[in-house]
Amino acid sequence: MPKTFYITTAIDYTNSAPHIGHAYEKVLADVIARYHRLKGEPVYFLTGVDQHGQKVQQSAEKREIPPQQFVAGITEQFIALWDKLEVRYDGWAATTNPLHKQCVQGMLERLWNQKQLYRDKQSGYYSVRQEQFLTDKERGPDGNFGPEWGTVEYREEENYYFTLSSHKEWLLKFLSSHPAFVTPSFRQTELVNAVEKLGGDLCISRPKSRLNWGIELPFDPEYVNYVWFDALSNYLSFVGYDPNLTDFSSQPSTFLDKWPALHVIGKDIMVPAHGIYWPIMLHALGFPDDRMPGLLVHGWWNIGGAKMSKSVGNSVDPNTLVDKYGAEAVRYYLMSDIVTGKDADFSEERLVARYNSDLANNIGNLVSRTLNMLNRFCHARLNARASDFNSELQSQARAQRERFQQSADEFSTPGMLAAADCLSSRCNEAIDREKPWELAKDRGRQAKVACLLYELAEAVRLIALFISPVLPRAAHGVFDQLQWKMELGGKEERFSAGDMEWGQLPEGHVVGKPAPLFPRFT
Ligand code: MSP
Repeated sequence: MPKTFYITTAIDYTNSAPHIGHAYEKVLADVIARYHRLKGEPVYFLTGVDQHGQKVQQSAEKREIPPQQFVAGITEQFIALWDKLEVRYDGWAATTNPLHKQCVQGMLERLWNQKQLYRDKQSGYYSVRQEQFLTDKERGPDGNFGPEWGTVEYREEENYYFTLSSHKEWLLKFLSSHPAFVTPSFRQTELVNAVEKLGGDLCISRPKSRLNWGIELPFDPEYVNYVWFDALSNYLSFVGYDPNLTDFSSQPSTFLDKWPALHVIGKDIMVPAHGIYWPIMLHALGFPDDRMPGLLVHGWWNIGGAKMSKSVGNSVDPNTLVDKYGAEAVRYYLMSDIVTGKDADFSEERLVARYNSDLANNIGNLVSRTLNMLNRFCHARLNARASDFNSELQSQARAQRERFQQSADEFSTPGMLAAADCLSSRCNEAIDREKPWELAKDRGRQAKVACLLYELAEAVRLIALFISPVLPRAAHGVFDQLQWKMELGGKEERFSAGDMEWGQLPEGHVVGKPAPLFPRFT
């Protein structure tokens, strides 16, 4: 059995509706998953929702509805959006699922028995309004806690703690021997710096008097877990990890086939959650170093350089965008106009401009010109064999195929799309230069026209493969117009990296009529 490529995204908080930042992460993971399917690998893509916690409890209370009902409503919005954006996942991680609860409790029970969890007293200043203990970081320049914290009182509270700091040296050693744990590498450097500053253990509980919307601690019914054992463990509980089996290698094969995962997350949740708590939790549970997951840390979409936020009122609703421009235009923009790992500024004007220039004017135009000319000058029939020539377009196609594959392996979605865009530009330039409509007037140059049109059809076929992870619908559209692999119409198996070899279209193949693929936005 080949190993399954296991990819996850952060599970989204269900305290408010999805925005374009959430959409970016899901589409990015979807594109990586589709690329691995293109390569013929088995893929398991897990995503979901983070349903417990203080904020959800508060939002539900404000609306005077039970938290279950509140999260069900928001969860529905996320599911509908992923559907609309053609995000194709295999597993759905909703943390209120009883299966998940059982797994989290099993893990906590085991760590409690292994004395990796302990009970301790915490005392300090507590904000009643925000329901949290405050540290000196929260003090204003005058040394006092600001009005945003409401009434602040001194409190003592008992809680449960995870022995995080005892694993600090292990984590530092692990990071130095596994420099590719985090992509991009500058984030790993950031992580190492943060681990070096690590002190203290991790509080993992809240008394039920403060928070009851969570998973109860198996060894103390007066407490619920807070928050990371619940949230992060979804990556294990939904793929069959059995917390009762201490020996890692005796885990069920359904789990071992998939693990380790590639976690796609935003930069804000690398430190401390995914970069510190998570590997230490796994280590404490007995995961070997060579079975630690990888982190792909992406940047943020901002608005005019500022953070997108509901309360500021600058958050972009992906639903509105999809309704206006369609799913593929939104997917194209999100995948092409940001460097994976870095931040970018969201702009609707750029969405329109890039769609018009790259898709309508370049690729769409090439497909329609190629099919038009094949219909006009060759009766829609390919009258040449790939072995008849060795042209510049063919070597361009090879170079762009390499660029596509290398970019995809480095998670660079702009690079994947640039491969399609470049090959298309070279083809359009060749058409402008060779002017097949002039050549076609000359009987003696029919063979040259046939050769050029064959090469253009092959390039168009490759371009469809290059865009297929980001624009599956358009890629199907191109194949349909080429009348290629019609028996797999609408199916993802229609696209295969093995078909990226030049010269697959046979001599005598008949193509269809052109139809608009990317109508211009005005
Ligand atoms: N529930 C936690 C994650 C738990 S994972 C075990 C969470 N949820 S979140 O809804 O706040 O964010 C979900 C993901 O969306 C995170 O990876 C976050 O980085 C990402 N983004 C949130 N805002 C974003 C942008 N403006 N731009 C890009 N991604 C953004 O964190």
